[in-house]
Amino acid sequence: MTGSVAVIGAGPGGLVAARWLLAQGFEPTIFEQTQTLGGQWTGTAGISGVWPTMHTNTSRILTSFSDLEHEKDLTFPSNRDILAYLHRYAETFALTSRIRFGTRVELLSRSDAGWLVESSGTAETFERVIVASGRFQSPYVPTVPGLDTFTGTAGAMPTYRYRESHPYLGKSVLVAGGAISALEIASELAQLGVRVVVAQRRQRYVLPKFAAAVPSDSRIFTRYGTLANETLPPAEIDRQLKEIVLEAGGSPEQYGAPAPDPSLFAAGVTLAQQYLPLVAEGRITVRPWLESVDGKTVTFTDGSTDAFDGILFGTGFELDLPFLDDQIRSVVGLDTVHLDADRYTFHPDLPGLAFVGMWDQSGGYFVPLELQARWVAYTWGGVIPEPGDGELRSAVDAYRARRGTSQKSRMNLVALSFARAAGVEPNPDDWPHLRRALLFGPLAPSCFRLQGPDALPDAPARFARDAAAFGAITSNELTEREQRYWAAVETARAMR
Ligand SMILES: Cc1cc2nc3c(=O)[nH]c(=O)nc-3n(C[C@H](O)[C@H](O)[C@H](O)COP(=O)(O)OP(=O)(O)OC[C@H]3O[C@@H](n4cnc5c(N)ncnc54)[C@H](O)[C@@H]3O)c2cc1C
Ligand SMILES: NC(=O)c1ccc[n+]([C@@H]2O[C@H](COP(=O)([O-])OP(=O)(O)OC[C@H]3O[C@@H](n4cnc5c(N)ncnc54)[C@H](OP(=O)(O)O)[C@@H]3O)[C@@H](O)[C@H]2O)c1
Repeated sequence: MTGSVAVIGAGPGGLVAARWLLAQGFEPTIFEQTQTLGGQWTGTAGISGVWPTMHTNTSRILTSFSDLEHEKDLTFPSNRDILAYLHRYAETFALTSRIRFGTRVELLSRSDAGWLVESSGTAETFERVIVASGRFQSPYVPTVPGLDTFTGTAGAMPTYRYRESHPYLGKSVLVAGGAISALEIASELAQLGVRVVVAQRRQRYVLPKFAAAVPSDSRIFTRYGTLANETLPPAEIDRQLKEIVLEAGGSPEQYGAPAPDPSLFAAGVTLAQQYLPLVAEGRITVRPWLESVDGKTVTFTDGSTDAFDGILFGTGFELDLPFLDDQIRSVVGLDTVHLDADRYTFHPDLPGLAFVGMWDQSGGYFVPLELQARWVAYTWGGVIPEPGDGELRSAVDAYRARRGTSQKSRMNLVALSFARAAGVEPNPDDWPHLRRALLFGPLAPSCFRLQGPDALPDAPARFARDAAAFGAITSNELTEREQRYWAAVETARAMR
């Protein structure tokens, strides 16, 4: 029992958590309800929204952990490549033998001796528990009057259940939603000649996969972006992010889509490679949100109507942790959107319990998942001090104060908050030859092995290589714009 940790879920979050727990001398047991590891990346119906033709929308380097590289050098690997990577990761760190496949956790509760995990008719006590059961397991479909009367032959369902284009070929399909799942599936179907209409409640800006010749996640999710977010007025951050998006792909109305709100924060931003050009070619039509459905006919909020054979809802996900008992649920104030915890992880009234991967963000998950796993393992392993009770409570209060506002964060904000907590945030002043890469380059996993616990001797060379390959940063000299932007941040910091 000493050192025992139950890890619920063998997706990327559960695997990377187990890897870092092992390094701290813990004994993780991973509970996985399916017969295979990899979570979303298995494409398994019911636990994954990944469809067979899907590629990552995050660059390879930001879809990897810090001590295993991908075998292929594709910038945007296929979902099968990511699954193969996760299998290799599990083998490399001797995780596979620790997974109890086909074992669904039905109930998690506190016991006098620790944490009681009930699964498949058995109950077992563990000293600690990590909940890593996934943030995108429960698709959300908004209420639309008359939806239950829909008679299209291809039916109405969430994109989460989309697996193949075949049922839609030669038909007319409504894709509801304005973010990645909706726009990527709309694009796939439109390119196969399907008549596609996209219905959305607002027009987001749409970033292509490359911005100024580098993967756009390298440009948009930087350490500079986090520091600017902490120091400059929100309107200036909005302007800078919009500048990157407009330079990369222009604005939707230039392609014939509706004009988004001038503020990027108000309009939202998403990422899709083919979508806007397909709108420009007339192969996708954009409509406002659905007012009602009657048989095959959909009425939109502008009063227009159209008939469809199928409807796909790419309308997001609800937070869903059905196995938490009522006491844990009440402590963290769990609902379909919120979970009160210090930086999505710890709660002072639930010692020995940590949540991994339960936040919603734009950008890649692998880097922040690993940093969160290291934070948890270092805290429990005594490498860094446990946060004090007062500190935890005020962090939880700060989270609670943001209830009801958008819960979507950005990868760079989340990653750096975990890196700081884990004591592995690199200090650019300590790495003068990497300064520009650390500020304006990709948040590659290698940069979080430069200093602090588990620093690696080859991390500087690896990070320099990653920044060159994924951020086109081959010189340490800031561009004129970077100098201007960085000077504004330094001035704002000096004035604090
Ligand atoms: C369609 C789609 C595309 C995505 N594309 C990208 C991308 O391009 N790049 C990127 O970085 N991220 C992407 N993501 C985000 C993705 O969720 C993360 O990359 C990553 O899979 C999160 O890992 P996780 O372990 O937290 O959750 P998951 O991958 O969801 O794994 C959770 C695991 O927990 C198991 N589980 C759940 N409940 C129980 C239980 N009660 N008992 C036992 N086991 C349980 C599940 O079976 C599953 O194996 C995408 C997500 C979706 C939905
Ligand atoms: N690799 C890939 O290609 C790929 C593919 C799919 C998904 N993903 C990842 O999967 C995760 C989930 O993405 P997602 O696109 O499925 O979900 P999402 O990002 O949560 O987007 C949900 C969409 O539904 C809309 N919506 C939600 N509630 C609505 C309502 N009540 N009425 C009308 N519209 C509503 C939202 O509108 P607003 O626009 O107004 O917010 C948004 O456009 C993300 O991390 C994403 O990166 C990746």
